Amino acid sequence: MSFNQSASQTRRVAFIGSECYPFVKTGGLGDVMYALPRALVHQNCEVRVILPYYNCIPQKFKDEMVYRGSFMMDLCSDGRTFYVGIMETVKDDVIYDFIDNREFFDWGNPYTGLWEDIPKYCFFSKASLAILNYLDWIPDIVHCHDWQAGLVPLYLRTRFAETPVGRAKSIVTIHNLRFQGICGIEHLKYWTGLPDYLYDYPVMKQSESDANMFKGGLAYADRITTVSRTYAEEIQTSFYGEGLSGHLYYHRTKLSGIVNGIDVEQWNSATDKLLAAPYDMNTAVERKRENKRALQEQLGLTQDDSQFVIGLVSRLTDQKGLDLVNAVFPELLDENTQVVILGTGDPRYEDAFRYYESANKGRVCAYISYNEALAHRIYAGADALLVPSLFEPCGLTQLIAMRYGTVPIVRETGGLKDTVAPYDAENNAGNGFTFDRYEADLLLGAVLDARTLYLEQRERWDDMVRRDMEKDVSWANSANQYLALYDELASEE
Ligand code: ADP
Ligand code: GLC
Repeated sequence: MSFNQSASQTRRVAFIGSECYPFVKTGGLGDVMYALPRALVHQNCEVRVILPYYNCIPQKFKDEMVYRGSFMMDLCSDGRTFYVGIMETVKDDVIYDFIDNREFFDWGNPYTGLWEDIPKYCFFSKASLAILNYLDWIPDIVHCHDWQAGLVPLYLRTRFAETPVGRAKSIVTIHNLRFQGICGIEHLKYWTGLPDYLYDYPVMKQSESDANMFKGGLAYADRITTVSRTYAEEIQTSFYGEGLSGHLYYHRTKLSGIVNGIDVEQWNSATDKLLAAPYDMNTAVERKRENKRALQEQLGLTQDDSQFVIGLVSRLTDQKGLDLVNAVFPELLDENTQVVILGTGDPRYEDAFRYYESANKGRVCAYISYNEALAHRIYAGADALLVPSLFEPCGLTQLIAMRYGTVPIVRETGGLKDTVAPYDAENNAGNGFTFDRYEADLLLGAVLDARTLYLEQRERWDDMVRRDMEKDVSWANSANQYLALYDELASEE
């Protein structure tokens, strides 16, 4: 990895969030919590990543951790206290501190349901600040990710204001506004022990009966970022704002978008041990065919490397545009096309894709599960990757696909719009195929355009494969932008 060493002084940053690869990951948040700290330590930062010590973390990682201490912490409005243990491990200069409490973190994968998750992340947010004081490691910035760390800025400016960590500045990064941590006001008052004045409309009050953890965190954060410029604009509109567009518009001067990257060591087709035939830009066209055949064999598809193979690697939720895929599935498929789906989630999508597999044996595979190794093989073996999302704060699968020379077909929203330049036939330019409105016919049109290019103008297709592999999807540039933000904040009074 080559980064320009920043001239700025060393920054101390505490990342606080609910998941981080390889310990626990359900989606892109886990990737970012892994990759961005690694990029930042190359930019003169000291980074600690604070996570819950979930029971579902694989034993091999637990075995590597060392016990750093423990204490009791008060949490609830009735003064109820809880055990806080600290388990620590270090990987590539990033320190990972896991907060241990069996009552909260023994269940779930890692999430359970809001009723249990709300108390669990109230505890986690407060304990994250408490351990920084306990470890006597005071960051310049506490960088909080999504609603699970949403209370951190509120605790920082209230209960912790007069403690050493109180001098830190806070950033909240929105990875997905869909999830906010909303519950009854009394429930949250009890579990947070936070003062009543925070349960007013400008802060946590959501309605006469409900409070919203994320809303409060956004109000109290010194800066808000989200994971693409387009999503930063979109969330100030009612369609994308998930009920908080007015709140975000009000706070717009402290809101900005910094697009995600991916870890280019973790995602490297030339060294990827999971692939049948690793490849670089020069060998991609040939080797991707070998990977395609291996994928077809593994998944029970007809082995034929002239087939146009479309992959979809995704949480199966309505965010991901799967209604559009379902609406045109029969038209998508023809004698030249195979479709591979890897995902889990909403049963209605799981069942629909299982049905399409059974009705089209040998041409469709619906692999309904979470499987890292298969994800790598799909990114390598497919020709195109479909990401037709209804909304997409950034999206990482299109970045991984490009890095693996697999052409993305995306809807122009959020980070998909910011990272995939549409194919430009006149200049033989662009990275993929795109469509704008959320309409099934437009998705179908984009897939047909891609397939036509693949079948009829293979040299141009191969040019695009190489262009995609050449594109910089690393964290280098975006890590610099975060660093500039840290510097700016740290220099403010
Ligand atoms: P989101 O965070 O909304 O789920 P992203 O595109 O940001 O979407 O990130 C998804 C990440 O999760 C990628 O690393 C992708 O490879 C991975 N992923 C999603 N579903 C699966 C699955 N079923 N098996 C393996 N990896 C998956
Ligand atoms: C969220 C978003 C996704 C983004 C990821 C990492 O889960 O849905 O678009 O890439 O977070 O920021």
